[in-house]
Amino acid sequence: MKRRLVITRTMPPAVAGRATAEYHAQYLDMIGPFDAEAFLAALPDADAVLVTPADRIDASVIAQIPVGVRVIGTFSVGTDHIDLQAARASGLAVVNTPDVLSFATAEIALTLMLMAARRAGEGERLIRARAWGGWTPDFMLGSSMEGRTIGILGMGRIGQALARMAQGLSMRVIYHNRRNLPAAQEQGATYYPDEVDFLGACDVLSIHLPGGPATLHWLNAARIAQLKHGAIVVNTGRGSTIDDDALIAALTSRHVAAAGLDVFAAEPTVPAGYLTLENAVLLPHLGSATHETRAAMGMLALDGIAAVLVGDEPAHRVV
Ligand code: DGY
Repeated sequence: MKRRLVITRTMPPAVAGRATAEYHAQYLDMIGPFDAEAFLAALPDADAVLVTPADRIDASVIAQIPVGVRVIGTFSVGTDHIDLQAARASGLAVVNTPDVLSFATAEIALTLMLMAARRAGEGERLIRARAWGGWTPDFMLGSSMEGRTIGILGMGRIGQALARMAQGLSMRVIYHNRRNLPAAQEQGATYYPDEVDFLGACDVLSIHLPGGPATLHWLNAARIAQLKHGAIVVNTGRGSTIDDDALIAALTSRHVAAAGLDVFAAEPTVPAGYLTLENAVLLPHLGSATHETRAAMGMLALDGIAAVLVGDEPAHRVV
């Protein structure tokens, strides 16, 4: 007998096809903010749910999930949208989708870095505004990344993929992490255990931290002050790790030359201060947004859900 799976958002076709073949799948097709009421109303008789980072599965939602639901699969590597402690206390398993999005997310970090350094967003806007006056030797000059130092904050799989890409641009790679990683060292990246030394050495700071209380506003005014004048900041982790007021002030004063941001604390809302800054490159959370990666994420989430439901150990269990 097919089990019942509730899916909050529209899935890529291959993922939806598999879900429909393997389950009585109910699609809520939510757009915009998470609708907790509609979610909970769909759960009587459900065995599993597939959610996304746009869905806030907090303690009060978890407390109302019926006991028949055994597993929450999340279509993401990040899990800060789920109260993991509450899930554990309720006996719910949580599975996620690491690895398969590392390259795609690193590509977006690289894109943001280059766009910020070479003023690509600004140039694009100028052309669309029909305001380009033509080529001159001093027109819209940016900075080359060749020989510059990129500092990777959080040297997980995405950070390591970005390190390889940056080395391809002849950049020097340094990283700050809870611990030293021999694999990263072997790859030619230098470990900076001291945060102040690390920040002071970065021409580009690329942030790859998970969200949640431990990393809230990690990049604050005090840490921004440790950066070199003219550094570039890139964030593809979680928006909550940056104190936006502090970064907007630093972009305005040009202490931070430019920023490339793919993530925001209250998505899809973007702090208004960024919108008028030419030196802010803003993307709508595109890190993992390739056809291949999103299909792989969906398949991995379905693998994890299936494993829990048949009593096997899933490959990527968070709780
Ligand atoms: C994740 O998987 O956590 C990403 O933010 C989605 O791209």
